[in-house]
Amino acid sequence: MQSQMKKIAILGSGGWGLALACVCARLGHEVTVWSAFKDEIDTIKRTGELRAKLPGVQIPKEVKLTDDISESAGKDIVLVGIPSKFVRSVCLQAKPYIDKSSIILSSAKGIEDGSLKRMSEIVSEVFPENIIAVLSGPSHAEELGRGMPTAVSVASVDLDAARLIQHTFSDDVLRLYVNSDVIGCEIGGAVKNVIALCCGVIEGLGYGDNTKAALMTRGLSEITRLGVAMGAKADTFFGLAGMGDLVVTCTSMHSRNYRAGILIGQGTKPETAVQMIGTVEGYACAEATKKLSEKYGVDMPIINEINAILFGGKSPKSAISSLMLRPHSFE
Ligand SMILES: NC(=O)c1ccc[n+]([C@@H]2O[C@H](COP(=O)([O-])OP(=O)(O)OC[C@H]3O[C@@H](n4cnc5c(N)ncnc54)[C@H](O)[C@@H]3O)[C@@H](O)[C@H]2O)c1
Repeated sequence: MQSQMKKIAILGSGGWGLALACVCARLGHEVTVWSAFKDEIDTIKRTGELRAKLPGVQIPKEVKLTDDISESAGKDIVLVGIPSKFVRSVCLQAKPYIDKSSIILSSAKGIEDGSLKRMSEIVSEVFPENIIAVLSGPSHAEELGRGMPTAVSVASVDLDAARLIQHTFSDDVLRLYVNSDVIGCEIGGAVKNVIALCCGVIEGLGYGDNTKAALMTRGLSEITRLGVAMGAKADTFFGLAGMGDLVVTCTSMHSRNYRAGILIGQGTKPETAVQMIGTVEGYACAEATKKLSEKYGVDMPIINEINAILFGGKSPKSAISSLMLRPHSFE
């Protein structure tokens, strides 16, 4: 189905917000990208790209760029493309301007510190009258921005809204699948960052593909156990927002979580590695996931060991040994 022209605001002019702005412009939608940082907006206006976040991708001239959040008023869809840590504060800042009829599309991947809330729970707390949907799946901005075929899930309890998002963003480069499992899509998207950090640690230690495959497979088991305990469907974790996102993040140098993990495996202190890389959502999410596992009574040994590395001073090598030497069990 050909999508009708929509008015779309994208909050956040990082790699992800800009890659999606390129998609929107290609599809003929009217798109406005907002950033809290005037220098980001000025740089894109001046150079046509944001080299620091999405090098080599020219942002189409039709994309409107602003640092005035009131310009997110009157939109059909407002996409939240902000790192998870700042989702609540940015939503609160946007709240006075967002129409109640706008669908809010949350695309941040994380769990809020303290409250342990998923991103869509935060968004619906701030916008209780709006329909909320979630975008998740294997999608490096660097590749989508260059027009490389990408498939993701859009989840909502309102399936009509999810279908509308599907039609609005789909073309021969981006393909969206509708999913009704919001919890599963969000837990898959958030916790895979923690497993990717751990996969990077394995790479940094100089271990091989066997170790990574074991970690990814057992990591997916842990994510699935947690998600199901929280109310998700197990099947979701074998789809794009589960296995798909886990694979793309655990195997790619585009992933900041994976790159931070490599540094840690090579001996860099975790806080230093995170400072060096920038947005490493798996770092905070590791702690939040451990708390969720305790809250829901779910056994997550990989999550426990990565927390011991990140926050307990345990050496990466002995953390991996601890995982290998756990009591023998069935798969
Ligand atoms: N990069 C990807 O490939 C990708 C793909 C899918 C989903 N995501 C998710 O999208 C979200 C954004 O990712 P990104 O890679 O674009 O992140 P990013 O680190 O590039 O930052 C995105 C933008 O958020 C804004 N921002 C940052 N800090 C802010 C603050 N304190 N207050 C207000 N605005 C602030 C800025 O405009 C910044 O450019 C993340 O949750 C990420 O998990 C990213």
